[in-house]
Amino acid sequence: MFARVNLVLAALATHALAATYSQSDSHQGTGFYNSFSFQAISDPTHGRVNYVDQGTAMSKNLTYASGDTFILRADHTTTLSSSGPGRDSVRLQSNKQYTTHVTVWSIRHMPVGCGTWPAIWEVGSDWPNNGEIDILEGVNDQGPNQATLHTGADCTMPSSRSQTGTSAGNNCDVNETNNAGCGVQSNTASSYGPALNSAGGGYYAMERTNSFIKVWFWPRNSGNIPSDVKSGSTSINTGNWGTPFAYFPSQSCDLSSHFGAHNIIINLTFCGDWAGAVFNSDGCSGTCSTYVNQNPSAFTNAYFDIQWIKIYQ
Ligand SMILES: *[C@@H]1O[C@H](CO)[C@@H](O)[C@H](O)[C@H]1NC(C)=O
Ligand SMILES: *[C@@H]1O[C@H](CO)[C@@H](O)[C@H](O)[C@H]1NC(C)=O
Ligand SMILES: *[C@@H]1O[C@H](CO)[C@@H](O)[C@H](O)[C@H]1NC(C)=O
Repeated sequence: MFARVNLVLAALATHALAATYSQSDSHQGTGFYNSFSFQAISDPTHGRVNYVDQGTAMSKNLTYASGDTFILRADHTTTLSSSGPGRDSVRLQSNKQYTTHVTVWSIRHMPVGCGTWPAIWEVGSDWPNNGEIDILEGVNDQGPNQATLHTGADCTMPSSRSQTGTSAGNNCDVNETNNAGCGVQSNTASSYGPALNSAGGGYYAMERTNSFIKVWFWPRNSGNIPSDVKSGSTSINTGNWGTPFAYFPSQSCDLSSHFGAHNIIINLTFCGDWAGAVFNSDGCSGTCSTYVNQNPSAFTNAYFDIQWIKIYQ
């Protein structure tokens, strides 16, 4: 009896401290075509975009896979008519859904250019009730990156938390924040845009448990990337990764009830509710949609180059 109680206590203690996970999925190269689906849908954020299907994307080379390279880009050769559809681009959604998990991304290059609004994020059905986790997202090349949670009602974050980044707001409820959510900005300049690309990209990681959500970033040229992150190891220990730039504890927000099963999304839109609204204040001239229509060559570098995504559970 006592031995059994002790065993149970030992198991609980081990569980509470354990931060080790095993790899369940590795998405790389042509594997993206099996594990993700192309979504030729209209952009709910009113972007100047035309999301294409897989056949169109492949024939126009908007996606390209070889070895450990996966490219996802927007059209950069076509001048658009203002009365026609927006710039061709791609939105991918993972076929699998994930609840508690860790995801690690090795990104070599991200889309840049005035008017771009790229995102790597996770979202559930019936938005916002199953939550949204934005891992890498921004507009018009303005960094550093901000990681953001968006939820239904009654989810706030404590003002004092163990993170290296800076909170932009502690209320995650989309209805009370006009969909701003609770974001935390990284303190690393190379976490976004041209600076990320100059650093050769880097590694993003997100850990979701029922107790917290954490997001880390390491530039590829950093000297302290955890070895299990860098190698895409088959097992990882997030306990060795140091303080995340964004930390969202389940303290005054019950994460297990605000976050359901999520799909991973990779998308690249233009203008719309965010990039369009701040186009001029971000230093871009003219009107966002006119710029996107008339300057195809400005989108030559509007592409993701992803080496791999690893999922751990
Ligand atoms: C693309 O990503 C942004 C950023 O998360 C999101 O707000 C927008 O709705 C997305 N558009 C589509 C069509 O997925
Ligand atoms: C397609 O894109 C890839 C990656 O940018 C490039 O290496 C390749 O040459 C392109 N193929 C064609 C036919 O343009
Ligand atoms: C919260 O906002 C979402 C998205 O705009 C909307 O669908 C929902 O009805 C809103 N809920 C409340 C309680 O206002």
